[in-house]
Amino acid sequence: MFFKNKSDPANTDILNKIDKEKIPKHVAIIMDGNGRWAKKRGLPRAMGHRAGVETIREIVKTSSNLGIKYLTLYAFSTENWKRPKDEVNTLMTLLLEFLKKEIDELHKNNVVVRAIGDISQLPRQCIDELDRAYTLTKNNKGLCLNLALNYGARDEIKKAIINIANQVKKGNIGLEDIDDKLISDNLYTKGIPDPDLLIRPSGEYRISNYLLWQIAYTEFWFSDIYWPDFKPIYLYKAIYDYQNRSRRFGGV
Ligand code: FPP
Repeated sequence: MFFKNKSDPANTDILNKIDKEKIPKHVAIIMDGNGRWAKKRGLPRAMGHRAGVETIREIVKTSSNLGIKYLTLYAFSTENWKRPKDEVNTLMTLLLEFLKKEIDELHKNNVVVRAIGDISQLPRQCIDELDRAYTLTKNNKGLCLNLALNYGARDEIKKAIINIANQVKKGNIGLEDIDDKLISDNLYTKGIPDPDLLIRPSGEYRISNYLLWQIAYTEFWFSDIYWPDFKPIYLYKAIYDYQNRSRRFGGV
């Protein structure tokens, strides 16, 4: 079934090298390259997104098995509305299918499923299914899967500023109360630690309006692999590299 896979022998070498005591707590991923994966095969872009969902299933399972606590996937950005209507519809349909098909298995495996972003702008069915998924899974103690949907970091920061300014205006807080924690607590990611590791496949070296406040001290890992081809072995490689970096957080 979904979670109880046998380890692929090709993966065991790198998996054995990973220090299980130093698994990153929060991994964020910019899932990219679905369109180019499809184009390379002469397929419609929708097939690339569909193949991308298969990768999501694999990577969620692998993350959960590794003991990663938070996995944040960039599924739909505030800028993605600029895509052709058909493609937006495909992405929303895939989201709906994914939630309906996988939620029971995710729940059984102790996964919390939640969204970050302004989901009020998504189709009604998606909002309802996301609410249902969160209500069902919110008390689980395993992996927390954050789906970034209609998410944009600038939008998130702008909303936080407006909230905080309103609190100051009402006299509930003073300017001296504004610190990093207050800002973090006004973001969609409230209560979630900042990502330790950010992965972007597909050969692009951009952040694309993702978690701009939260990635101040995050380690980045890039790869040329398109998202539909992003097998667990690449996650292992990213974690192995991460474990061999020296994180100083501005210190020495
Ligand atoms: C980027 O590839 C991918 C996206 C914008 C969407 C990612 C969405 C999914 C994998 C499926 C739907 C989500 C869920 C949660 C089920 P791209 O289209 O920008 O690729 P390209 O740069 O090669 O064109």
